[in-house]
Amino acid sequence: MARVEVRNVSLTFGAHKAVDDVSISFEDGGFYALLGPSGSGKTTLLRMIAGFEFPDEGSIHIGGEAVESVPVNKRRIGMVFQNYALFPNMSVAGNVAFGLQVRGEKGETVRRDVADALELVQLGHLADRRPHQLSGGQRQRVALARAIVTKPRVLLLDEPLSALDKALRTDMQVELKRIQREVGVTTIFVTHDQDEALSISDRIGILNNGRIVQEGAPEEIYDRPKSEFAATFLGDANIFAGTFDGTRLRLQNGEAIDLPSDARPANGDLRLAIRPERVRLVPSAALAESGSSQSSSHLAGTITRRMFSGSQSTYLVESGGQEYKAIVMRGNAGELEVGTPVAMQWDRSDLIVL
Ligand SMILES: Nc1ncnc2c1ncn2[C@@H]1O[C@H](COP(=O)(O)OP(=O)(O)OP(=O)(O)O)[C@@H](O)[C@H]1O
Ligand SMILES: [Mg+2]
Repeated sequence: MARVEVRNVSLTFGAHKAVDDVSISFEDGGFYALLGPSGSGKTTLLRMIAGFEFPDEGSIHIGGEAVESVPVNKRRIGMVFQNYALFPNMSVAGNVAFGLQVRGEKGETVRRDVADALELVQLGHLADRRPHQLSGGQRQRVALARAIVTKPRVLLLDEPLSALDKALRTDMQVELKRIQREVGVTTIFVTHDQDEALSISDRIGILNNGRIVQEGAPEEIYDRPKSEFAATFLGDANIFAGTFDGTRLRLQNGEAIDLPSDARPANGDLRLAIRPERVRLVPSAALAESGSSQSSSHLAGTITRRMFSGSQSTYLVESGGQEYKAIVMRGNAGELEVGTPVAMQWDRSDLIVL
């Protein structure tokens, strides 16, 4: 097990900077997700850690040692690639044994290590099958067993679950987390599925255009994104854009929004974000009846669409030419109809200053 440290690493392909001055540390035994859009440099970063690519600038340290001159097979890294391929003509056990045999191990040691790895992924009973006789999830586990059988210090997983359907994928996320805990190996997991990143990792690094735009615990990034990109890439967010006049945020349409009481932004252009589940919808009629005054955490609008998804409903609300989103858990309150004039309300403290 080992800590991985990436220091000011860049790599350019032709004229394209695929990885741009990235610095990030992966602590020993941690489970990290790298999240970012297609082409943001996730695979390239993993390939440099594994030793398949070399940084133009910067350095990579594994277990405290600079690995520049350490070849792939000496880095003690297990990797499951984006398009992992099992050897079709070999049994499950043969696939898993391969890496050990390449290293020159033989006989009983190989047999025992393979049995242990298959036990860990709960495939001991299918050791003699061929890959085409397995389900997608089972094949995925063979790929994982193959990566961990050599007892790597670091496990690199490049979208290992992307080929699986949703139900299987959720099962495998739980499995993967269990296996990682049991083995305790430092794991870097690439995904572009935000829910997956949120649910299984200890920490998340968000990449965009080859740069790490934010790194932190899942709750931290979700609750305190530092940019509009982070706010909208990890989770959904409504954005209020306008001008801060020293007291309030003035939107283009003249409406004004109070800031969280502890926010001290500079005057001028400013953006605020709020998560859709933090927006409450009150029918304007009910608001008028209760005689409650126009609250400052309030924007008037009209419901333009409702999307029902079982436990909750997502509403789109048009206000001042902008569309906002509100997610409402289904409770005792009835559903709101399209066309209903509403007030969007929220707690000031739920606004995120970007
Ligand atoms: N060997 C290469 N030669 C030239 N360009 C490359 C090479 N490998 C990657 N790139 C480019 O570098 C950028 C980053 O690629 P990378 O594969 O790291 O993205 P990614 O974040 O893994 O994307 P995806 O989510 O689609 O897998 C892309 O623009 C890609 O086209
Ligand atoms: Mg990739």
